[in-house]
Amino acid sequence: MPETLLEIRDLAKSFPARGKGNAAVQAVADVRLTLKRGETLGLVGESGCGKSSLSRLILSLMEPDSGTVVIDGEDFLGASVQRKRLMRRRIQIVFQDALSSLNPRMTVGMNIAEPMRLQGLGSARERDGEARRLLDLVGLRASDAERYPHEFSGGQCQRIAIARALVLKPDIIVFDEAVSALDVSIRAQILRLILDLQTEFGLSYIFISHDLGVVRRICDRIAVMYLGRIVEIGPAQPVCEAPRHPYTEALLRAIPIADPRRMRVEELGLIQGDGFGSPKPEACAFEPRCPHRFAPCSVKRPTLIPVGDHHEAACFLNDRSQRKGDS
Ligand SMILES: Nc1ncnc2c1ncn2[C@@H]1O[C@H](COP(=O)(O)OP(=O)(O)OP(=O)(O)O)[C@@H](O)[C@H]1O
Ligand SMILES: [Mg+2]
Repeated sequence: MPETLLEIRDLAKSFPARGKGNAAVQAVADVRLTLKRGETLGLVGESGCGKSSLSRLILSLMEPDSGTVVIDGEDFLGASVQRKRLMRRRIQIVFQDALSSLNPRMTVGMNIAEPMRLQGLGSARERDGEARRLLDLVGLRASDAERYPHEFSGGQCQRIAIARALVLKPDIIVFDEAVSALDVSIRAQILRLILDLQTEFGLSYIFISHDLGVVRRICDRIAVMYLGRIVEIGPAQPVCEAPRHPYTEALLRAIPIADPRRMRVEELGLIQGDGFGSPKPEACAFEPRCPHRFAPCSVKRPTLIPVGDHHEAACFLNDRSQRKGDS
């Protein structure tokens, strides 16, 4: 069994309501996850379910309301400023919009080396050398270090962002919709690169996407998120071939739809209503949209329970004691 590299313990974060009369948004609620060395964990769910909020919490780019993140047995969020700075080297992120995540006034080389500079590592010359080495590693030319981000295509910018994520020699990289905006053929190339880098450096990945099709191809395990909570988690094969939560089933039905903006309630084959976004706090958050809802779903919230080998789901359909008497 590979060792646990990252442990997320009961992370929660809510945002104040936008506009009068609206309830606070519980972006992340009681999320518990582990990531093993060399493993790829996929995180899927519709827009607004809290994927990016969770990644920002994991990277300590924002404060949680509660919970913590443990890297290699050491509390990351609770670490001293100095210690946290060092621990930050171990976990990096690649965003969807690579161009806007790069500084347009800095050369590509300076962009890639910037995390080293911020960490006080190496001389200017050494940092430049490292940027050039990484450009070559991600399939660009070392001389591209002298050019500026706007001179590159979307796929090339994503390679630059990946080079920057590698510069501190991290153990973990979070990819937040990192390939979602790319054309299919470019996406395949970037995915290939991501997988090759993992093999070469033994990296652990959290791969965030609304697209279960991509996640299914490259991830060892998959966590499905709905309104801030993990509703199903397990090895990729059982989650995709024998899902145990109606929401995962709906996401799987939506795989052929390429455009995420079209992946709405209708396409997912779910019940439509006002419930989405404002579930009753004591009920299952998915109940208002669930085609299989039954009595207990509107009065209590299901928790994750084992449904198979390392496979858990939060749905009363899997709970015999709740199904008793239901027809
Ligand atoms: N800074 C913020 N202030 C207020 N609300 C926020 C903030 N960031 C996120 N939210 C809200 O938190 C919820 C989760 O948002 P988040 O961006 O984490 O979702 P996501 O799953 O990453 O969505 P997408 O697939 O569109 O990227 C949403 O309801 C969003 O409106
Ligand atoms: Mg997001």
